Amino acid sequence: MSAVPSNPTRRRLLRNACGIALATAVPPPVVIAEGDAERLSLEARPGRAALRGPARDASASQTAIWGYDGQLPGPLLRVRQGEPLRLRLRNGLPQATSVHWHGLRIANAMDGVAGLTQEAIPPGGHFDYDLLPPDAGSYWYHPHQQSAEQLARGLYGALVVEEREPPAVDRDLLLILDDWRLDEDGQLDLASFGNLHDAAHGGRLGNWPTVNGVNTPGFAVRAGERLRLRLINAANARIFRVDIEGHEPTLIALDGQPVVPRALPAEGQWLAPGQRADLILDCSGEPAARAALRTHLRDGPHAMATFDYAAARPLRDGPPETPIALPANPLATRIEPDAAVSAALLMQGGAMGSLRSARYRGRELPMRELVGQGMVWAFNGEAGLPESPLLRARRGQTVLIDIANDNRWPHAMHLHGHHFRVLARDGRAVDEADWRDTLLMAPGERVQIGFVADNPGKWVLHCHMLEHQAAGMVTWLEVA
Ligand code: C2O
Ligand code: CU
Repeated sequence: MSAVPSNPTRRRLLRNACGIALATAVPPPVVIAEGDAERLSLEARPGRAALRGPARDASASQTAIWGYDGQLPGPLLRVRQGEPLRLRLRNGLPQATSVHWHGLRIANAMDGVAGLTQEAIPPGGHFDYDLLPPDAGSYWYHPHQQSAEQLARGLYGALVVEEREPPAVDRDLLLILDDWRLDEDGQLDLASFGNLHDAAHGGRLGNWPTVNGVNTPGFAVRAGERLRLRLINAANARIFRVDIEGHEPTLIALDGQPVVPRALPAEGQWLAPGQRADLILDCSGEPAARAALRTHLRDGPHAMATFDYAAARPLRDGPPETPIALPANPLATRIEPDAAVSAALLMQGGAMGSLRSARYRGRELPMRELVGQGMVWAFNGEAGLPESPLLRARRGQTVLIDIANDNRWPHAMHLHGHHFRVLARDGRAVDEADWRDTLLMAPGERVQIGFVADNPGKWVLHCHMLEHQAAGMVTWLEVA
């Protein structure tokens, strides 16, 4: 077990988020990937990012990161719904990697799970990804090989699949939320990679929040503008709960899938690692006003970014009357419980948990030995990716999974290749219409999820708190 680092506290997050906030930091321009029309090219490689903003001494503002094309966030990939996206990923890292297209219901061979759907791409190697995303919406891409380290170093980017007829907005803004664990010099805390204290608790929580790679950036807006905001939580383990001070944005999609437009929950929109939310924001503030995109922590709200109103007079008198609902995606939504294949998934382990032993690589190991292998979590008594799947489904069959979070920690359960609905909570049927690819579960909570297994292949189901995944919380299912 590696040394336990001084744990960054919420207080530090507070100080960093609000105290030395660089109120004038401008979000970096979002770079769009380039390449020939046939195949884009993207390279995972070391780079530098001005995480701490532009300092007087330019070198002091540069944090060593790993990024796609060396950038933070990686280039924005945009594709029209129903059109292919072909991309060559080159590995310029000193470590093997792979790319997973989070939330996209694509061919299994393109899913990017090293060790299950492809071999990891060695340093110097490349892999061609041919994607045909069926659903419009906000997605993202990141490694699925040593994910806990590689995402924490900065390897992630957004992938937007454009609706054929998107709602009319003045601007479409991407906001990728992250939190970093930086040392005093503004460099990544590398010593705590693989730290088992993090893994057994809430994961790698940082001390330096960023939006699009900048601490508390300011987005220039104009009174009366209508914006579409695409929020993505790219943090390893941080759960954000966001709202916009003094504004009433409307939620139009979760995890890429349209929802019936609705107000955010009063406590803010929960965004667990991996989750996305699309919002329509009508800039209802006065010229020259400023509003914060806030995340609520236990000790109160903290600014993640600001919306800085121009002094210019409002663009229009009131909010536009054009519709904001998104067109439906071609998701198979007919859940047929009578013909379903079902499974139970018991999540155990972690600090203050009751896990005494678990199978790991075919052997039953007591907790002490599991810890020696870097494992502190188990699904159904097994730590790490099991040899055989949690279940096998026929193509088109309904799958029901009863998930019990039998430990003291929240988790963000993520299923590949499909979106699912919550059918029951704590044994009681619920009527929740949202289709998710990542579900935040509270300690002790039990849910039943259901989906139509219409995408053949081997799909992982894991916790998106990446230290939990690395320390055992991963299984898979097979669709024939
Ligand atoms: Cu966003 Cu299995 O990952
Ligand atoms: Cu977890």
